[in-house]
Amino acid sequence: MVPVTGQGSGGRAGQPVRVALLGSGGSIGRQTVDVLARHLDGFKVIALATGSQRQILEEQVRLLRPLVVSIADPRAARSLELPAGTEIVGGEDALESIVTRPDVDLVVVATGGLVALRSVLAALEAGKVVATANKETLVAGGHLVMPIVRRLAAGAAAATGDSHHPLAEPLGWLRPIDSEHSAIWQCLVGEDHAAIERLLLTASGGPFLHATAADIAAATPERALRHPTWTMGAKITIDSATLANKGLEIIEARWLYDVPLSDIAVVVHPQSVVHSAVHFVDGSVKAQLGTPDMRLPIQYALTYPERLASPAAAVDLIAAGRLDFLAPDEGRFPALRIAREAGLAGPRASTAFISADEVAVARFLGGTLDFNGISRLLEAAVERFGTSASTDASEPALDQLISLDREVRQFSEAYR
Ligand SMILES: NC(=O)c1ccc[n+]([C@@H]2O[C@H](COP(=O)([O-])OP(=O)(O)OC[C@H]3O[C@@H](n4cnc5c(N)ncnc54)[C@H](OP(=O)(O)O)[C@@H]3O)[C@@H](O)[C@H]2O)c1
Repeated sequence: MVPVTGQGSGGRAGQPVRVALLGSGGSIGRQTVDVLARHLDGFKVIALATGSQRQILEEQVRLLRPLVVSIADPRAARSLELPAGTEIVGGEDALESIVTRPDVDLVVVATGGLVALRSVLAALEAGKVVATANKETLVAGGHLVMPIVRRLAAGAAAATGDSHHPLAEPLGWLRPIDSEHSAIWQCLVGEDHAAIERLLLTASGGPFLHATAADIAAATPERALRHPTWTMGAKITIDSATLANKGLEIIEARWLYDVPLSDIAVVVHPQSVVHSAVHFVDGSVKAQLGTPDMRLPIQYALTYPERLASPAAAVDLIAAGRLDFLAPDEGRFPALRIAREAGLAGPRASTAFISADEVAVARFLGGTLDFNGISRLLEAAVERFGTSASTDASEPALDQLISLDREVRQFSEAYR
């Protein structure tokens, strides 16, 4: 196996990359643990943090032997059984204190919502590489995150005198794990930004791709949770059924690749083999293909610029047979249009979209909102909170985003 040198991850050349994983108990978190456990010669896990799943965290600690852990739920923290010498940190600043430790090189963000926004900013300010599956951080806080990332890349280019060094570009510091964004990243390696014509984000279309409007209106949580190609957490699975997830991804892509929203197209591709593509000015389209297995983009973000053997099966194009591509239907799936409008309106509107969506999905799963109620609520929240007469309308600071999140959640809980 090729050793992971650490050179591309801000670490010490020839030494294992030292990792902190936020959200280790979730869907992405557990798959990240699986990837790390297969490459223990290349990575040293310094910290694991999760929300409430004590038993999963205990198993992960036995496997990876981190120096420090955190569990947000105080009851779970009291009964946590850890090997002697494992440090436990708690309190409101737990994630920040973990990601800014001097012995951490790379932070993996596998938490949902805005849980880790403050920690992502702190990690980048402390000069850590951040690999993120979480899209909400960029959707709400792209205007706060990207200037730091660009500054870090410019600093690395100046310090190394090598404009091709993996850390001399923003994507070396902020690495997308989302499969679509990883695909675009992989297509852009070695390409000039000025040569990008458009980004093409693929979408599976979710379980209701061919359903009638009446069928969609009657969708139950059980049906909406049956994703045709990916196995993921419940929140993102419902977001895939409404296409709200694709809407969030458009805004995420706008920040990551510095491409206007009008140049980011969505293409429905039910087989989920083509994970996304880039259309270049000369008419070429470059795409990344793979099986729907998140361990592949997780591993790419951890080992970039190297590629290592992975447990994900390679795509068998002959077995795949045919690959279909369709235009998305924003009539039956209005969340996509609402997200695009929120992205155009700015960070307040896209934060309102995220916060309302978290509540809307929880309410749908809990039976107090129907499936179409999710997009009705999204539209109402974006309209109400998306613009502001105050001067912070275009570039809200972190604390303003956090209080906006709270306000939108209250509105969304009460929405009828
Ligand atoms: N799942 C996928 O395949 C996929 C694909 C692409 C992108 N994403 C994105 O990745 C992110 C995570 O998705 P997911 O599906 O993995 O979500 P998930 O299964 O709900 O996992 C979220 C994790 O965050 C943890 N958490 C919650 N509050 C925390 C806190 N205060 N401190 C530390 N950890 C905390 C949860 O802990 P407990 O479970 O212990 O309570 C859980 O481990 C989302 O933004 C999603 O959109 C996911």
